[in-house]
Amino acid sequence: MLFPLIKDLLHLPAESQELTIRGWVRTKRELKNLTFVDVNDGSSPGGIQCIFDRGSTGHPRLSSSAAVILGSLPTGSSVIIRGRLIPSPGSGQTVEVAAYDIECIGDAPAEVYPLQKKRHSLEFLREIAHLRARTTTFGAVARVRSRLAFGVHQFFQEQGFHYIHTPIITGSDAEGAGALFQVTTLDLKALAQSGKEPDYREDFFGKPSYLTVSGQLEAETYATALSRVYTFGPTFRAENSNTTRHLAEFWMIEPEIAFADLTDNMQLAEAFLKFLLTVVLRDCAEDLAFIEKVNSRTEKGITAALQKVLDSRFTHISYTDALSALEKNASDFTFKPFWGCDLQSEHEKFLTEKVVGGPVIVTDYPKEIKAFYMKLNDDEKTVRAMDVLVPRLGEIIGGSQREETYSRLENRMLELGMRPEDYAWYLDLRRYGTVPHAGFGMGFERFIQYVTGMVNIRDVIPYPRAVGQAEF
Ligand code: 4AD
Ligand code: MG
Repeated sequence: MLFPLIKDLLHLPAESQELTIRGWVRTKRELKNLTFVDVNDGSSPGGIQCIFDRGSTGHPRLSSSAAVILGSLPTGSSVIIRGRLIPSPGSGQTVEVAAYDIECIGDAPAEVYPLQKKRHSLEFLREIAHLRARTTTFGAVARVRSRLAFGVHQFFQEQGFHYIHTPIITGSDAEGAGALFQVTTLDLKALAQSGKEPDYREDFFGKPSYLTVSGQLEAETYATALSRVYTFGPTFRAENSNTTRHLAEFWMIEPEIAFADLTDNMQLAEAFLKFLLTVVLRDCAEDLAFIEKVNSRTEKGITAALQKVLDSRFTHISYTDALSALEKNASDFTFKPFWGCDLQSEHEKFLTEKVVGGPVIVTDYPKEIKAFYMKLNDDEKTVRAMDVLVPRLGEIIGGSQREETYSRLENRMLELGMRPEDYAWYLDLRRYGTVPHAGFGMGFERFIQYVTGMVNIRDVIPYPRAVGQAEF
């Protein structure tokens, strides 16, 4: 068995248990004969306080080597501390360690170690992303992220969904938006020098290939065999959008359900979001409270607002009705809304924050602003699309009922200048045993932003990839 983590020790009864602490020094303070060392191993936000008594009457007695180590013990060094667990008289913790021995495993010289006791800006920490997980904020975000990832699997597995690993390299543009990263082993330098056009028959896959923007199309093939499936993996978008909500590499969760329509899809999305909220509010309460308290850049009152969402039903509104509401307030926007326009972030925020005051599902968007695979409504102008919008962020989920009729799907592809033969396998689903089906995609980082209140999406993924940013 592995040694216990600090979070486990904090729950032991404080009855003079002998124990060993392993972790990194957060702070060291001295008060008369006492040295207080806060040690954190990332298992809980608070860590544990270890108290060394350097006085001659100290009990337990401190070894002389321990006294020397304590003399110069910088923030960030790794230590193994031995002592006894005792009830803490101080506020802020119920137990602490009466320590008698310490080993310094790895020093972290204060002159050069970038993470000092003071609070650092999130921008600065982004530049040292390899060390930022050692700060309490990024530790908390990492734990929340991990718990939520597990929650995603729990939710779907409990509802009879199968987890599908869809490919990361693909030949198709699933969203038809053209924001693709190309994957090639062609010698670009030699090509440029020769001035010749690339011949993709000579490329690794024998044709142009890309990093996937979505696992949806492949997920659909499995949904029309296993009934309920989901993917959860990295997706890539070469959009040149330098915003606080866009990444070039992000993780997406995409369920796909057979024999289902848009109403089923909306219900699934609401149940999914509420399940994750329940999990995170229950299991990550300490981390969320910490982020809210310490991080002046996150908004206040987030956990209370999330709790309220759990107790309410999501509002549904059609795109057309949403547009009427926006047009009535046209003077509030930089981008003037009109029927047919794609909703801008300012419009989405207005709808969810001002019109509804909570999450809202907008449905039935004009077909021109949505992907080719969405089911056409009888009006032939709008499609069975749904976007879930939330306060502070806007779109967090995008989904739709899929076009299940072969001829209609093929027509739509032709209208959009796509080559149906490139998607023959996808069209086959409509040729053989077609069924109404629906699904959606949730940006995992957007959801983490939503629950933590972290303002920049680059702070909720360990190593953000965005325009001009692929360090580490
Ligand atoms: O709305 P999107 O583009 O939908 C799809 O990809 C569909 N294939 C999903 C489906 O129906 N299976 O993306 C889905 C979600 C968005 O709502 C947003 O939360 C997130 O993915 N997302 C991004 N997150 C971070 N950075 C980006 N550049 C993102 N683009 C989309
Ligand atoms: Mg979308």
